[in-house]
Amino acid sequence: MFTAAVITLSDKAAAGMRKDESGPAAVKIMQRDKLFDVKETVIIPDNPELLKNILIKMCDEKKYNLVLTTGGTGLSPRDFTPEATMEIADRMVPGIAEYMRAKSMEITPRAMLSRGVAVVRKETLIINLPGSPKAVAENLEAILAALPHGLEIMTGKASDCGHQTAFK
Ligand code: MTE
Repeated sequence: MFTAAVITLSDKAAAGMRKDESGPAAVKIMQRDKLFDVKETVIIPDNPELLKNILIKMCDEKKYNLVLTTGGTGLSPRDFTPEATMEIADRMVPGIAEYMRAKSMEITPRAMLSRGVAVVRKETLIINLPGSPKAVAENLEAILAALPHGLEIMTGKASDCGHQTAFK
């Protein structure tokens, strides 16, 4: 099992003015196949400095294999999740975000409005998901099958890409 955490970015949910349904949507999908042990979920406002601090702690101290964020990927003046994520990143993983958007644009052209990124910091993969529970499910389902192999390679548990293919 891989360890994981989910960060919900929403001013309203953080202030208790709206129930967070996006974090739980991500957790439900991650726990479904018993591949991920979700150790932590947090709800924070759209504050890039706070997000950076939490991400650094989750990567460097808690050493989670996977951190998902939901929200703050769009065009509103307070949407800075991708920028905060890139600022603390060691390496970009563009294919994950490219595939999420490509699959999502088959569902809605509004998917092009999500600026989410996927990055690696140390031995943690961080993926930005959009904010609505529907978008969380659609984006996560699109990439889920490829994640275990990526995480195995990232953590050194696998070095051979030929022995297993997540996508047929
Ligand atoms: N992706 C999928 N699969 N399904 C969706 O409904 N909504 C889009 C997009 N990505 C959507 C989606 C919309 S309407 C927006 S504005 C952006 O994600 C950004 O969302 P965020 O600002 O909540 O992160």
